[in-house]
Amino acid sequence: MVAETHLQAEDLVAPLFVREGIDEPQLIHSLPGVVQHSLDSVVTTAKRLVALGVPAIVLFGVPATKDAAGSGASDPGGIVQVALRALRDAVGDRLVLVPDLCLDEYTDHGHCGLLDRRGRVDNDATLERYAEVAIAQAEAGADLVAPSGMMDGQVAAIRAALDGAGRSDVGILAYAAKYASALYGPFRDAVGVQIAGGGDRRAYQQDPANRREALEEVRLDVEEGADIVMVKPATLYLDVLADVRAAVSVPVAAYHVSGEYAMLAAAARAGWIDRQAVALETLVSIKRAGADLILTYLAAEIAELLGADR
Ligand code: PBG
Repeated sequence: MVAETHLQAEDLVAPLFVREGIDEPQLIHSLPGVVQHSLDSVVTTAKRLVALGVPAIVLFGVPATKDAAGSGASDPGGIVQVALRALRDAVGDRLVLVPDLCLDEYTDHGHCGLLDRRGRVDNDATLERYAEVAIAQAEAGADLVAPSGMMDGQVAAIRAALDGAGRSDVGILAYAAKYASALYGPFRDAVGVQIAGGGDRRAYQQDPANRREALEEVRLDVEEGADIVMVKPATLYLDVLADVRAAVSVPVAAYHVSGEYAMLAAAARAGWIDRQAVALETLVSIKRAGADLILTYLAAEIAELLGADR
């Protein structure tokens, strides 16, 4: 009766991986219970999420081939574009379709942007690619696009590109405060990303030591036209999440990322913690800290549990 925070299926967003050229879903070793979907299985899963009351999915593509420019990301025949069309046909407007907008799944060097001749990420050249990807995703049926590459000016560039293409109806869920975290490892297994030369993303993602900087990143994204801003990862950054919630009036999302899920799943599998109890406590805490939406690999499982509890 006096609980201040109530977790609901409507708070959850399911990240889904769809892989080009497979007929059966493939297990992901470091993300037990999560799969790379085939086109068929991603559609089946989307329908199940609708039935469970989950309002949205974020879609990641695993292409069959990669190149320096990440061509598959903007190809109308690329896996995410193909999946978006199939999903829209299957679920109509009952699920908000949000493709992740980045290049790393599609580049052979594994960086989120294009590289210059010295092998460094070229921020401004990358913005032109993001614009192309945004238009391809909009044309394929995206409701929102979710830029995750952390290039400076990416929200403004994408907003201008969408508006210029007559797609002012497509919104932007901006990965605004995204940290250079060690918790993305299982995700990189899921999408087959290895950063060239054992590199990292510290030149474009945020330093985990910084709290005020997150507010600056969020402020810039809102000014540039973000409709929803996101903090990522979630549980180690609840202070940042609470700050962001207090600073903006747009909806705030938090991403409970692959490493956070993997730690929970591994300890539960070992019998050291109670999976459901810790999962619920984790998600309630993220909501309590200020998240309106939570991206989590637990979405279907917890939505089912919450539905059964009613
Ligand atoms: C980049 C992207 C990443 C994640 C979402 N989008 C990986 C990265 O920045 O290296 C990580 C999500 C997770 O760990 O669950 N396209």
